Amino acid sequence: SPLAAWLRGLPKAELHLHIEGTLEPEMVFALADKHRVPLAYASVDALRRAYDFDDLQSFLDLYYAGADVLRDEVDFHAMTAAYLRRAAADGVVHVEIFFDPQTHTARGIDIGTVIGGIHRALVEGERELGISHRLILCFLRHLSEAEAEATLDAALPYRTLIAGVGLDSSERGHPPQKFARVFARAASLGFKRVAHAGEEGPAAYIRDAIDVLDVCRIDHGVRCDEDPALVAQLAATRMPLTVCPLSNTKLKVYAQMQQHNIGRLLRAGLCVTVNSDDPAYFGGYVVDNYLAIADALSLSRAELAQLARQSFEASWLDDAVRQQWI
Ligand code: ADE
Ligand code: ZN
Repeated sequence: SPLAAWLRGLPKAELHLHIEGTLEPEMVFALADKHRVPLAYASVDALRRAYDFDDLQSFLDLYYAGADVLRDEVDFHAMTAAYLRRAAADGVVHVEIFFDPQTHTARGIDIGTVIGGIHRALVEGERELGISHRLILCFLRHLSEAEAEATLDAALPYRTLIAGVGLDSSERGHPPQKFARVFARAASLGFKRVAHAGEEGPAAYIRDAIDVLDVCRIDHGVRCDEDPALVAQLAATRMPLTVCPLSNTKLKVYAQMQQHNIGRLLRAGLCVTVNSDDPAYFGGYVVDNYLAIADALSLSRAELAQLARQSFEASWLDDAVRQQWI
């Protein structure tokens, strides 16, 4: 469509992307074959049909199972390279990607294997596709803070390759406070901080991520709506929200895209951005997310361009580079 072509031509940064969530069913089967890993599904189509979720946890169960086929450095490289090709085709010029080391180290895979494969693909993507990058190490919030501390220790030999730390996985019952100490240590080591908050969890988790974890962005954050004073604060401080529209409908945060609040938050002056979260599982990459909200919320091209500009405002690019894209 003309709008899709226009959106692909708009320079964009993607700031909320779990690299393990880009593992397409075809690659799951290819890697399962390579490593002789048995799968619970008979075919690529059967696996894709299973991507029908009730909530965050029902997705996470399949997402962690899918990641089990990632075994060596070449696998992490191939997954990341495939994502970067799709991002380039969508007009993404800068990526800040999450990885979940604990999903892999728990299976006996060295964190160096994970970081090495991802980083090699990012460096090639910069050279061959012109996509700049930052890497964000996420702690799994359903695990303990002690396990997050051990993960931070294991990552320290690679600290120059990691820009920041994040917090993901099951939100409810795992408030930001649980990770206060490890985030403070990450801050003292020079890592930037972000956290998933207000996806399924309450608006209070957004406040606590800001006040207790000292984050510079909120991942998702759509439930800020339940606290008008918080919405006003987010607007006044230009605290970015990395919103993922197709994720929110697939995981039933909203029953329908027409109910999504991103248009309202944009008009209220918030630094909201559009991202794909786990595109292999949620049915679309970043332009598909822009198209879905453009259609359901009747956003104008000026509003869509503003969302794209805000993705650079919210990014960790150096100011001189940021200015080239805004
Ligand atoms: N891990 C991968 N995607 C996630 C999401 N949307 N929320 C929490 N944890 C995640
Ligand atoms: Zn996410």
